[in-house]
Amino acid sequence: VAEDGLNAWLRYSPVANAQALRGRLPTGLVALNTTQGSPVNTAAKELTQGLNGLFGVRLSAAKGDGKGGDRPRNAVTVGTVAQFVNANPTVRIALPELIEDGFHINVSGGNVRILGQNERGALYGAFHYLSLVAQGNVSDFSLASNPEAPVRWVNQWDNTQDGGTHGSVERGYGGKSVFFWEGRIREDLTRAGQYARLLASIGINAVVVNNVNANATLLAPELMDGLARIANVFRPYGIQLGFSLNFAAPQMYGNLSTFDPLDKSVIEFWQNVTDNLYARIPDMAGYLVKASSEGQPGPLTYNRTLADGANLFARALQKHNGICVFRAFVYDHRNLNQTLDWKADRANAAVNFFEGLDDKFEPNVLVQIKYGPIDFQVREPVSPLFSHLRKTGAAIELQVTQEYLGQQAHVVYLAPMWKEILDFDLRVDAKPSRVADIVTGKRFNTTLSGYAGVVNVGMNTTWLGSHLAMSNLYAYGKLAWSASADPAAILSEWTKLTFSSDPDVLRVIADISLASWPAYENYSGNLGIQTLCDILLGHYGPNPGSQDGNPWGQWTRADADTIGMDRTVKNGTGNAGQYPPEVAALYENIDTTPDNLLLWFHHVPYTHVLKSGKTVIQHFYDAHYNGSAVAQTFPKLWESLKGKIDPERYEHVLYRLVYQAGHSLVWRDSVNNFYFNKSGIADAQGRVGNY
Ligand code: GCU
Repeated sequence: VAEDGLNAWLRYSPVANAQALRGRLPTGLVALNTTQGSPVNTAAKELTQGLNGLFGVRLSAAKGDGKGGDRPRNAVTVGTVAQFVNANPTVRIALPELIEDGFHINVSGGNVRILGQNERGALYGAFHYLSLVAQGNVSDFSLASNPEAPVRWVNQWDNTQDGGTHGSVERGYGGKSVFFWEGRIREDLTRAGQYARLLASIGINAVVVNNVNANATLLAPELMDGLARIANVFRPYGIQLGFSLNFAAPQMYGNLSTFDPLDKSVIEFWQNVTDNLYARIPDMAGYLVKASSEGQPGPLTYNRTLADGANLFARALQKHNGICVFRAFVYDHRNLNQTLDWKADRANAAVNFFEGLDDKFEPNVLVQIKYGPIDFQVREPVSPLFSHLRKTGAAIELQVTQEYLGQQAHVVYLAPMWKEILDFDLRVDAKPSRVADIVTGKRFNTTLSGYAGVVNVGMNTTWLGSHLAMSNLYAYGKLAWSASADPAAILSEWTKLTFSSDPDVLRVIADISLASWPAYENYSGNLGIQTLCDILLGHYGPNPGSQDGNPWGQWTRADADTIGMDRTVKNGTGNAGQYPPEVAALYENIDTTPDNLLLWFHHVPYTHVLKSGKTVIQHFYDAHYNGSAVAQTFPKLWESLKGKIDPERYEHVLYRLVYQAGHSLVWRDSVNNFYFNKSGIADAQGRVGNY
């Protein structure tokens, strides 16, 4: 069963009526590229393994590749369009338009054609076909699918060296790194290959393997050799390797006296590093750079701009066709003073730092922007920076690892939240400007665009530490492929592939998952106050008092009478004014600000009356009771599935749900008591403070 965990949604366990459906499936296989390690060859292997596991069909190599009219019958053909045309010069087929990584599937009885625009697309097509048949769909169809964005990356925050704890993963809740151990690359990269397989099946095309808080020593030749081994394991799955850099490496690792991005020796240093990496990994995707943020070195050290910093790497990458993904998560926690400065606001940092730089970036720079202006909170407005970059490609950064959202000990299905963010219309120039259209390049015609998901799997046999958390990874890939995908439909598909198509299983997992984000928001921090977790220790568990009085800028400004961040232009930090006029007006005015973002944008008395008619404080009390009451229904719901889920996964999930139900009470009572003690306002229902 542990293996089932590792296979996640690619288990290929027998479908219920395999016998009856078998007649409609291919029996032969034509792989248009049989080179070991090629994605098309991987696709062929996957089809063989998948159809065998699902239906007990044993595919045999079909004779005849179409030349001379000798067309294979009852076979699945897989390859690229070019390979197909080359192998079948006389055959004319109608092909829809495919872009890079896109695929086309045609099923007519047992004759199946899976053609990718490139090899990666062919592999995606094979996974897609297997997913459909695994869900019992063996009817004839023809479909084409193209990704909406070229960049669909995963970021792993894996540490290479971390002062004694080997292979740790920052904000990773699924065990040790699958890549690194004792400051080196693991000898056995089996898990890295299995991870690549899962990621390829959801359309991911690159993985940045090391932490954005990067270690400079990873540039040592033997470590570069190790990175090349990881790239070799990724390649059969069409996954490229990306790499995080430490901006000060010229000094820390290269012994130069400076890391000034405009210094000649620094430029040479990075060119040299880049050439050395590409000599080993010719298809490397590029770099990911966190600079001038949270104490990390960066261009601001030398009074250079963020564009100077990004361009340094972008230029070094150009001859290799690599891209530089530069993170917009830039702020200086040492300059934020809550007590002295009413207008200080970390949420303003990114737009301020990127001001005036939009036309200053090299074309192979992509700016990666966290969905909200602070940091992966349970509820944030979208980052205003998405509306400021028109010439520069933008990618959205989502977090699959549930740092502020229960760290996989709580079930929180995140796709509905991501969907809300992606659907938000920023109304740039008073025109429709959905975030999804910005990060897929449609709105501003940018060529580079896309998605980054911070995933942080580890060696745990569940990958993320919890079976149910894997729906978030699955959904991340699906939304990055197409933002129009529906979170409930994604979940149901994932459930069928991961557990079963039993209607009870589908219903219970949907009930729990779709209720989970609202419940978590209710018991962890509502009205846009952020996740009220412990801000200094691990970002887990309730500690509303820890938010204020420190320089991290995730403030609530709660005192005895009032709460919330005043981000208005007229009286506050001015953050509302960073949005395009229509959205700015919405947030500037307390009457038009939605309740769920009220305390994000406004500082109000606890007695302020919401649109719902409740006061802020009563809403807090009620929401915490409601949210935890929902979490307490989860174990019972799950228990109704006993016997329908294998015991190992059943127990594993139940254990966590029971914990979540209990911990939601801790959240409820800590947060409610905290505000009761602060405000002295009684709960209208007499629950809070009455023990
Ligand atoms: C969060 C997280 C850090 C991480 C940072 C980032 O603050 O807690 O661990 O390094 O984001 O995204 O760079």
